[in-house]
This record gives sequence, C-alpha cells and structure tokens, in this order.
Amino acid sequence: MSTLKIAPSILAADYANFATELKRIEKTSAEYVHIDIMDGQFVPNISFGADVVASMRKHSKLVFDCHLMVVNPERYVSAFAQAGADMMTIHLESTQHIHGALQKIKAAGMKAGVVINPGTPASALEPLLDLVDQVLIMTVNPGFGGQAFIASCLDKVRKVAAWREQKNLDFDIEVDGGIDNQTIVACAQAGANVFVAGSYLFKAQDLVAQVETLRDALHD
Ligand code: DX5
Ligand code: ZN
Repeated sequence: MSTLKIAPSILAADYANFATELKRIEKTSAEYVHIDIMDGQFVPNISFGADVVASMRKHSKLVFDCHLMVVNPERYVSAFAQAGADMMTIHLESTQHIHGALQKIKAAGMKAGVVINPGTPASALEPLLDLVDQVLIMTVNPGFGGQAFIASCLDKVRKVAAWREQKNLDFDIEVDGGIDNQTIVACAQAGANVFVAGSYLFKAQDLVAQVETLRDALHD
C-alpha cells in the first residue's frame, strides 16, 4: 500500500504572502505543497509561472508538487527544474507529445506526473503508466478552487489502481478538486493515496488542525 500524502493547494492561500503561507504549511504534517500553474489558455484562469516558484523555493524546503495547466508544458521543463520543482505533473490534453514531454521531465531530474481532466477516459493513461511517478485524476474541471467534487471520476481512480497492481508498478495516484473530510474517504477507498486540498484546508484558521481532520478521516 502506498503512503498516504496530503498536498495543500497554495491556490487557496494568500497570493500576496507566499512566504508566510509556505511557513504555515510547513507547520502542518502535510507531505507536499501543491502549486497550480495556469496560463489562461489551457484553463480560463491565470496564476503564475516558474519565476514565482523559484522565489518560493528560497522560503521553503517543502516538496513542490507542481500541477501545470498550460498549453505545451514541455516548453517549461527546464525553467521548472531550475526553479526547484520536485515534481511536474502535466495534462495529457495539453500536448501532442505527452510521452516525450514526460521523458523530458524525468531527464531534467524531476519526478513526472500525468493528469487527466474529468472528460478524458482513463484508457489514454495506460501507455504512460510505466513512465510516471504520479497519475493525477482531476475530480473537478481544472481552473478554479472551491468547486464541487465529481464523483464519477472515482471509476478512473479504480481503473488506474487496478492497472498499477496488474503491471506491478508503484506510482502514486493523486486526486485534486473538491477534496474534504468526506470525499477523501471515497478517493482513498478507490485507490488514491495523494490528496490535494485547497479551499477545505485554507478556510480554517488553524491549518494544522484542519490537515489532521483529513488524516483522521483516512484512518477511521
Ligand atoms: C484546480 C486546481 C486545484 C485547486 C483545488 O484547477 O488544480 O489544485 O486548488 O481546490 P479545491 O480543493 O478548493 O477544490
Ligand atoms: Zn491542482
């Protein structure tokens, strides 16, 4: 069984205070910080790019789990590697050459992840599974925090978990979007082991305690 990991999404934090927000996340038991990169093309929203991630790196030793929602993310592989990203997870829908882009991420020394939108079938992932460190199944349409969890995506988590076992692979399965202390349980039961949470965590005053509510839900 893969280790359970919590990844607070900094998209839900205060953008004017990333250094402080990173310190806040460091005080919790979270394993990762999830960093959402949006270009206003692949998704309607714009966030920030590799230069901001490089600045964040100076303030934190957390594992940077970067989720790129940008067209042709292969263009930014070396920029993110230089910025200090630990993991670069790219959308299958965002490039004609997903296999080559994942190879490029690994060659740059980062962990490579592939992610699919709610409208993309899991079958498209199968040829990539022996190449990746992480598969991310979106449980909302990407672009914004605070959206409702799409339960039909859980079937895809089950499929990918079954392939992982059949093929004797050991990548992580991450879920992102609408994760709270209830939906996290369904995701874990389906086979996910990395849980991104934005609005559920950051709506609380006490981030440390709120992360523990997710862990408690997983252990019950
Ligand atoms: C959405 C982002 C998510 C977002 C999740 O496009 O990929 O990481 O921050 O936010 P919540 O947990 O509020 O759904
Ligand atoms: Zn994300």
